[in-house]
Amino acid sequence: MKPLLAVLKRIRKPAVYTSHQRCLSSCASSGLLTLPIRDEALIVGSSRELVQRLGSQVEVKTAFITEEEEGAFLAELEPGLKKKRYEFDHWDDAIHGYRETERAKWGAKCEEVLNRVRSVAFPEGSQLLGPVHILDLDKTGYIKPHVDSVKFCGSTIAGLSLLSDSIMRLVKEDATNEWLDLLLPRRSLYILRDQARFNFTHQILKDDESVFNGQRVPRLRRISVICRNLPM
Ligand code: OGA
Ligand code: MN
Repeated sequence: MKPLLAVLKRIRKPAVYTSHQRCLSSCASSGLLTLPIRDEALIVGSSRELVQRLGSQVEVKTAFITEEEEGAFLAELEPGLKKKRYEFDHWDDAIHGYRETERAKWGAKCEEVLNRVRSVAFPEGSQLLGPVHILDLDKTGYIKPHVDSVKFCGSTIAGLSLLSDSIMRLVKEDATNEWLDLLLPRRSLYILRDQARFNFTHQILKDDESVFNGQRVPRLRRISVICRNLPM
């Protein structure tokens, strides 16, 4: 099995950034449609129909972990992360201003949380990618639009957000006027499945573009803890 990080380098070839996508943040202040389906109004999109259609494939669960559990992750992750430097200058990377690692063995408290993530996010019996992926975005860091490799990752991506709120934007690959914005509060869990994972790019907005439904959402340093399954 290839090391995850080597795999991820190839996973995230950024999708072409169209002028249409660039216009999204300015368009976002007008005519947004909010649908308080599962977790309040954490998902807005280009149309009510899209929010409804994709609703079952996109979830944001607020307060999925406690402050104490977040502290347990930070205590486990910080020593290793601090030894690395943030990477900024690879213009062709899908991510700007980040450091990352992977981890297979966890202390009891984190393992318990990860088991909770696995049980809510993945279909029963699905084979998970062994190590969990950790991505540490600097305050100035961001993730450009991309689709995770279909060769290495399966139908479901589930991520915990530590230290900062952020906005994840999904844009339909072959129709960039179709989009969803997800507000990912600190300590929430998001899940992307099926079409939302395969047919839409996902990205994490940079601080100065971080506006959700007209509301400014300051983006600080953010660590994500991401679980994936294997392709069938
Ligand atoms: C990735 C990715 C999202 C996140 O690493 O491919 O999209 O929540 N990460 O950090
Ligand atoms: Mn991704």
